[in-house]
Amino acid sequence: MSSELPSSVLELRGVRRIFRQATAELVVLNGIDLVLRSGEIVALVGPSGAGKSTMLHIAGLLERPDGGAVLIDGQDCARLNDERRTLLRRSEIGFVYQFHHLLPEFSALENVMLPQMIAAVPRWQAREKAARLLGRVGLAPRAGHRPARLSGGEQQRVAIARALANDPRILLGDEPTGNLDHATGESVLETLLDLVRDTGLSALIATHNLDLARRLDRIVALTDGRLRTLA
Ligand SMILES: Nc1ncnc2c1ncn2[C@@H]1O[C@H](COP(=O)(O)OP(=O)(O)OP(=O)(O)O)[C@@H](O)[C@H]1O
Ligand SMILES: [Mg+2]
Repeated sequence: MSSELPSSVLELRGVRRIFRQATAELVVLNGIDLVLRSGEIVALVGPSGAGKSTMLHIAGLLERPDGGAVLIDGQDCARLNDERRTLLRRSEIGFVYQFHHLLPEFSALENVMLPQMIAAVPRWQAREKAARLLGRVGLAPRAGHRPARLSGGEQQRVAIARALANDPRILLGDEPTGNLDHATGESVLETLLDLVRDTGLSALIATHNLDLARRLDRIVALTDGRLRTLA
């Protein structure tokens, strides 16, 4: 019988990040180790300013660490040039932020088509996929609306659909429901977790909401530059 753990999709090894200020250095990440396994959904908690967003930006290949390594599917991303990192990020990683960052002049459908168009997916195919994803997040009837004509919860649903448009393996959420009222946040979270579980994605979600965190597979807490697993 094999008792192998699912493979690691994202791994941080000894990640350090230091912001140099005029008179002092701010060590935000001081040797972070994390293994995110296939299909796992992990909550990232910690006080404001602890470095959660910084850690997600590094995990998502938007920023380079000052030390340590980021591995995606076992591949050390430090060895890749910027172009390869961008390609890897586009194909493997989806982001959902606290603010939706949808493009205001485009419809919901077009916003979900865009990352696919950038990845050179044919237009008809991008449209079909976007429509399917918007249906999956309960927004089929709103597909033609621009963001300004959607509610906050609906905007976040579009942002979730957009994050999944290129079939990433990793979803990174930076307080994805932090801007919504409790009930709306709950229902958006349900949709997000359903989608993540159905597609077998791995997810790392920063949140200040402990109730939310407890519903995920595991909680890691960032304080004083270190990460520890909460029981
Ligand atoms: N580009 C930067 N230059 C200098 N300092 C920065 C920079 N980015 C972040 N910081 C500092 O690093 C620390 C961590 O910031 P970060 O945004 O990662 O925290 P956070 O845990 O996401 O907080 P919150 O819960 O409020 O979102 C903060 O003290 C912040 O001021
Ligand atoms: Mg943050």
